Amino acid sequence: MSRRAIYPGSFDPPTCGHLDLIERASRLFDELVVAIIVNPNKQPFLSVAERTQLLQEALPASCANVTVESFTGLLMDYAQRRQAQALIRGLRTSADYEYELPMILMNRHLAPHIETVLLAGDPALAHISSSLVKEVFKLGGSVTGLVPAHVLAAMQDKL
Ligand code: PNS
Repeated sequence: MSRRAIYPGSFDPPTCGHLDLIERASRLFDELVVAIIVNPNKQPFLSVAERTQLLQEALPASCANVTVESFTGLLMDYAQRRQAQALIRGLRTSADYEYELPMILMNRHLAPHIETVLLAGDPALAHISSSLVKEVFKLGGSVTGLVPAHVLAAMQDKL
């Protein structure tokens, strides 16, 4: 049986930390779906269409088993529709663990047969989050090396 995992998130913008996780998770499963949440209550910096394209363009040749989609509503409803066996989430710091654990337990309540697999992030990338990247970038700081070059170019186009 083919094993499919979903890596959900906002990816606004996609960072080098996300890409590290995608590459590593893609080696663990037959298929990895990067799933961008569509949140009607939030005004994103980059549109879902932009994020989808940027993520697709960022995938190296080794990630031929990775696709990029978007979803609305409950993650576990989407994960069940997509017949996923697992969710992937990254851990940079203990604060991430505090944030993730209630979601893992709630998701397990909703769909106990779908496991959440936590991957420790590359320590060299532990300071990178989409929200900090956006804040630093909007205030004129350098985010070179924190996001792929084509993502930085798309962010610059936004301003
Ligand atoms: O990249 P993020 O913003 O940390 O991702 C958070 C995300 C998208 C994984 C989380 O907000 C989510 O799963 N949202 C979908 C709605 C849902 O299922 N909520 C219940 C979560 S227990």
